[in-house]
Amino acid sequence: LEALPRLKTEVAVIGAGIAGLYTALQASEQADVVLISKKGLDDSNTRWAQGGIAAVTAKSDSPALHRQDTLIAGAGLCSYEAVEVLVHEGPERLKELIAYGTEFDRDAQGRYELTKEGAHSKRRILHAHGDATGAEIVRALSERVREKSNITVLENHFVIDVVTQDGECVGVIVMKPDGERFFLQAHATVLATGGAGQLYRYTTNPEIATADGIALAYRAGARIKDVEFIQFHPTALYYPGAPRFLISEAVRGEGAILRNTSGERFMEKYHPQKELAPRDIVARAIVSEMERTHAAYVYLDITHESEELIKHRFPTIYQFCLQYGLDMVTDWIPVAPACHYIMGGVQTDLNGETTTKRLFACGEVSCTGVHGANRLASNSLSEAVVFGHRIVKRIAELPPMSEVRPLQANEDKRVHRPVNTREQRVKLQKLMLRHVGVKRQEKGLRKALEELERMQRFYSYELQEMESFEFLNLLNTAVLTTRAALLREESRGGHYRIDFPNKDDLIWRKHIIQSIDEGVR
Ligand code: SIN
Repeated sequence: LEALPRLKTEVAVIGAGIAGLYTALQASEQADVVLISKKGLDDSNTRWAQGGIAAVTAKSDSPALHRQDTLIAGAGLCSYEAVEVLVHEGPERLKELIAYGTEFDRDAQGRYELTKEGAHSKRRILHAHGDATGAEIVRALSERVREKSNITVLENHFVIDVVTQDGECVGVIVMKPDGERFFLQAHATVLATGGAGQLYRYTTNPEIATADGIALAYRAGARIKDVEFIQFHPTALYYPGAPRFLISEAVRGEGAILRNTSGERFMEKYHPQKELAPRDIVARAIVSEMERTHAAYVYLDITHESEELIKHRFPTIYQFCLQYGLDMVTDWIPVAPACHYIMGGVQTDLNGETTTKRLFACGEVSCTGVHGANRLASNSLSEAVVFGHRIVKRIAELPPMSEVRPLQANEDKRVHRPVNTREQRVKLQKLMLRHVGVKRQEKGLRKALEELERMQRFYSYELQEMESFEFLNLLNTAVLTTRAALLREESRGGHYRIDFPNKDDLIWRKHIIQSIDEGVR
């Protein structure tokens, strides 16, 4: 049998958001790196991050306060140790981002401007170009990556599977733009593949957020943790013909209020922190108001703030809304919740290593324990750099790899069944929205799980195009999320059960962990 062509590198990094770019840069200080992106270096979820990056920089703030806010938002399921790491190491990593050339906004005196978002007790979020923080970080980091002669960037390449031998990850199978495949052997492999927003019909995430890393790691035998916890961003634009564009929580941080379609401000009924309550609470409150008023949206109103503030702080959002005839200075903006972030993911230790040796996960794909049941706004960019740094340190300590056997050319072939992938993807997204959305209950979850498992049995497998693999990844992850959501008979953070509306610390202050070999634990 013919062997699959093999390329070798020291570190393989999959994904080109903040986690992939930063980890590749740091790793390149000591090793040769191959960075794989299924699109281009400027096409990632990070690219769309608005609000900013949370880290303690102000004298009036402290890591203890940042820790406390993170733990409260996480609703009892954060790892205390992981949060400690985040809040103490975040400020150092922020300096590195600045040293790599990221330009965060400063005031007239040259001090970094700090904003606030839901459930933060202090202003501690740095931003760039007002509301284009992610785009600025991606710009700076990808420029540095392109300058590095020992980082090979493979754009429009797609990872089909993680390869393990004798229980260790030894690399990945990669599909080139022409469909040809090769085996990229690596001393260490870092999944930095981002999120899973495309599990849902309505999401703030781009088309590429297809849960690839969670599915890849699961199929390779790694443990997946806490994937029932999905964060719905309270305020995505809801307007005919417009995409569900994110309207940053920082807009509420700067004073915007929520009104139902009768014009009434309603958040005081739901939480003392009103519009700046933890995100899950605001999203559910909005859905309740939508149900009560039989409307598909509520309004975000910042018309009481000055035109200057609105245009200076939110130039991207302002321009985007204006394209649809909505002027934030004078109009209330129609918004509704949309899937934004998955708290769970590939389980890692404090060094970003998964339960499969030599396989690491960084950024949204990972479950480091920082977010618990609900992520604190703007903690995700910080998490990516803090744990990316630790991953690189850990990689340097890995023992040499034993001899890696070649792969046969047919080892990754699957049997062909023609399926209309686009149609199936929409079907999955509607199923998830309906039954595994902001509010869930047993009957719907069972129905969704049955249907998803049926689709999964049918959808196996000879996959040729990237879109089919992306759909497989969505399907695998949808099953994991729905199964965990069905099992967790309580409500907490980003998981709300109508049939179990209370938090149950006695039974459920624990994690749901799934793996292909061990089932559910
Ligand atoms: C936002 O700008 O509202 C998003 C920030 C985040 O998701 O952390």
